[in-house]
Amino acid sequence: MVNREATALDDPVGESLRGHHAHLARRLGRAATYQPEVATFSAITAEPGPDDWADLARLLGRGELADMFSCAATPPSDWEPAFTLEGRQMIWSGSSRPDQPPAEAIAGVVELDAESVPEMLDLVARTQPGPFWPRTHQLGTYLGVRDEGTLVAMAGERLRPPGWAEISAVCTAPEARGRGHAANLVSALVTRIVARDERPFLHVAEANTGAIALYERLGFETRKHVTFRGFRTP
Ligand SMILES: CC(C)(COP(=O)(O)OP(=O)(O)OC[C@H]1O[C@@H](n2cnc3c(N)ncnc32)[C@H](O)[C@@H]1OP(=O)(O)O)[C@@H](O)C(=O)NCCC(=O)NCCS
Repeated sequence: MVNREATALDDPVGESLRGHHAHLARRLGRAATYQPEVATFSAITAEPGPDDWADLARLLGRGELADMFSCAATPPSDWEPAFTLEGRQMIWSGSSRPDQPPAEAIAGVVELDAESVPEMLDLVARTQPGPFWPRTHQLGTYLGVRDEGTLVAMAGERLRPPGWAEISAVCTAPEARGRGHAANLVSALVTRIVARDERPFLHVAEANTGAIALYERLGFETRKHVTFRGFRTP
């Protein structure tokens, strides 16, 4: 059990692309990536050889971003580093269902669908919670809070390694912060995930101390520190 959990969370992108998100994947050999506008994350087999990197390069195309998420494997030297970001993976440590009413009962929390995508993209552009594209909402359930019809906060599910669901795109418009919207949305997602007999986890940038404090208060604890890395394909 412990090993299975560790494996799933150590390669969350690959585990999602091979499993729950297989219908949103593009694959070549042992390399995989998400379809355009869903996510940029790519995965490669553990201990990849030159053929595996060549497959990923062919899958992505020349000079394209290979967003390797938290994968520690080093690509060939002609793959140019594009970005590095220190972060941490946190898992929800609650052993039972959270003491929260269902999402619908939390005032103002609504489920967001494809029609809300322009507003979601606008909120993400204003708050920068992390990568989010026009089809990212297809990865899972996205919840939002509206204030007089305007979307002011949202959060949703992203990676889905077996037994786990990642909470992502947690953001609140600057003018609506400090009112508990993010706490409510994350709690609503935790409730849904736990009700499916899955466990919530998330990733956060190391520098985002405010968000880390919020997640700790909501019952998340750090499982491990990670480095997010991206490269340009040759
Ligand atoms: C982090 C964020 C989502 C919090 O949204 P929010 O709706 O204001 O959060 P809440 O009102 O639920 O706040 C919950 C608690 O966290 C605290 N908190 C929120 N943001 C904080 C910050 N930047 N620094 C310190 N504490 C913070 C609040 O004081 C509150 O504590 P309290 O309930 O004990 O008073 C919001 O600041 C945001 O959108 N940031 C930019 C995007 C981002 O970084 N998202 C996280 C990506 S992993």
